[in-house]
Amino acid sequence: MTKVPISEKGKSAIDVARGAALLAGEIMQDRFEKVKEISYKGPGDIVTDVDREVEAEVFSFLASEYPCMNLVGEESSPDLRADKGYAWIVDPIDGTRNYAYGIPLYSTVVGLAYEGTVLVGVNYDPNRDELFGAERGKGAFLNGKRIQVSERASLDECIIGLDLSYGDVRAKYALEMVANTVWPHMRTARMIGSSALGLSYVAAGRTDLYLMTGLKPWDQVAGLLLVEEAGGVTTDRMGRLATLYSDGIIASCRDIHEEFMQRTEGHLWREATG
Ligand code: IPD
Ligand code: CA
Ligand code: CA
Repeated sequence: MTKVPISEKGKSAIDVARGAALLAGEIMQDRFEKVKEISYKGPGDIVTDVDREVEAEVFSFLASEYPCMNLVGEESSPDLRADKGYAWIVDPIDGTRNYAYGIPLYSTVVGLAYEGTVLVGVNYDPNRDELFGAERGKGAFLNGKRIQVSERASLDECIIGLDLSYGDVRAKYALEMVANTVWPHMRTARMIGSSALGLSYVAAGRTDLYLMTGLKPWDQVAGLLLVEEAGGVTTDRMGRLATLYSDGIIASCRDIHEEFMQRTEGHLWREATG
């Protein structure tokens, strides 16, 4: 297993990730009720000045601990590969639309990968002061307490999480798929507007399955490891193990994942590309 290096100042990588996420949380909360500058990255894809400020602060914190590692961030270096050498991967605010509209459901993601394998992943929700964290091979934790994916007998008992991306036609297919092939043989569905929290909630056993397409490495870096370390499985829509660059993710415990794949086989969402 790849060794997780100690930082220049002698901290473990998970402590550094935690420190960075807590720092992000302070800035986000300080600015939450204040006026934010909003600009557009694409249709419906907004960014605030706080996203950029948080990323800059987190980057300088990480660089002070690990000066030689790549820093991949949604706002300033989205095109840098996250699967080459060591790379810190940062989503300063996951749930920007919630943040900008005043909905207190958002988080910060900080992860460390080596050659595409996630070694450390942290997702911090400052509104609930909940820090989800995992180190490869060491389990998944919520505020220091071990977490596990749920174990339900069947999909009928499951809460399914999903989100809408940005005008993505596959989001429409996802809604149709849940409505036509799963509903009403499920408990309910939740769309919280933060894919990072959506995945963390599966790891914590709060929801039973999360599905989404179009996620980027910073959206899923923590979730991939959290779900795996919490005893679950994350795959792409074909059922192959998910990676940082998988286009589409299904995260759940093994049995429910299998049932979901059977129930949704052949649906357009499972097959659509582009
Ligand atoms: C978004 C959120 C949202 C998901 C989008 C993501 P952002 O991240 O995770 O839930 O539906 O696909 O891009 O833009 O708020 O960091
Ligand atoms: Ca995101
Ligand atoms: Ca973001």
